[in-house]
Amino acid sequence: MTIQTAASFPSTEPILRTVGVKKVFGRGDTAVTALKNINLEIARGTMVALKGRSGSGKTTLLNLLAALDQPTEGQVFFNGLEISRLSEKRRSAWRRSQIGLVFQAYGLVPLMSAYENVEFGLRIAEADKKLNKERAERALEWVGMKPRMKHRPPELSGGEQQRVAIARAIAHEPVLLLADEPTAELDSRMGLQVIRVFRDLVERLGMTVVMTTHDPEIMEIVDHVIALEDGHIVIQPNP
Ligand SMILES: Nc1ncnc2c1ncn2[C@@H]1O[C@H](COP(=O)(O)OP(=O)(O)OP(=O)(O)O)[C@@H](O)[C@H]1O
Ligand SMILES: [Mg+2]
Repeated sequence: MTIQTAASFPSTEPILRTVGVKKVFGRGDTAVTALKNINLEIARGTMVALKGRSGSGKTTLLNLLAALDQPTEGQVFFNGLEISRLSEKRRSAWRRSQIGLVFQAYGLVPLMSAYENVEFGLRIAEADKKLNKERAERALEWVGMKPRMKHRPPELSGGEQQRVAIARAIAHEPVLLLADEPTAELDSRMGLQVIRVFRDLVERLGMTVVMTTHDPEIMEIVDHVIALEDGHIVIQPNP
């Protein structure tokens, strides 16, 4: 799959678009409708926060935007490409090259040091090998983890592990970063530092960020807030 850069698409096409998305888990009596009638557009180079109570559907929506899961009904488009229809093989190739993911369970490899985890992420993203060391160290520096980069995840606190996971997600400078409560384990100062790192990547590279958060301070910093209630959108900016 060819790598798309932020510049290779006309600015009018939203980087993400959903049409009539519905997600139902299970079937029959135990079926849960986690999302319904989700129509949204996210413009390239913006920072968007998804908010809503526990159980409102935020993680389910991020999973669909990351093509980690498929909608029961409706379509998800990335730069006009319908990712919800791609085969699992193409979806994972797309994820590796185009996006950065930060999910609640960080998915760090416990036997690898913080540095090795980030460097491994770059190898998976098939980034330019010659630059891997520099890029891994730079990403760890961004999140304040360079001094601890030789330590393995079990030797780090929850917030430190979260920062390593963030470094891994942004080291290859993805076009799109999808993050599920990326600052949940961080104190407010560190949380704001991480958001400033995201903002810098948005300004410098035109990266797009979609993240869930409960933090009112972060909601002030992002460009748009999308609010979910009971699986549907209640507040959405004009695209
Ligand atoms: N795999 C699943 N099987 C059945 N129900 C599920 C599954 N995943 C999520 N749900 C249900 O879908 C609804 C939305 O869940 P989701 O995880 O998206 O909420 P959330 O907004 O991320 O909540 P939180 O703030 O607690 O993380 C919930 O009612 C949840 O129980
Ligand atoms: Mg969630």
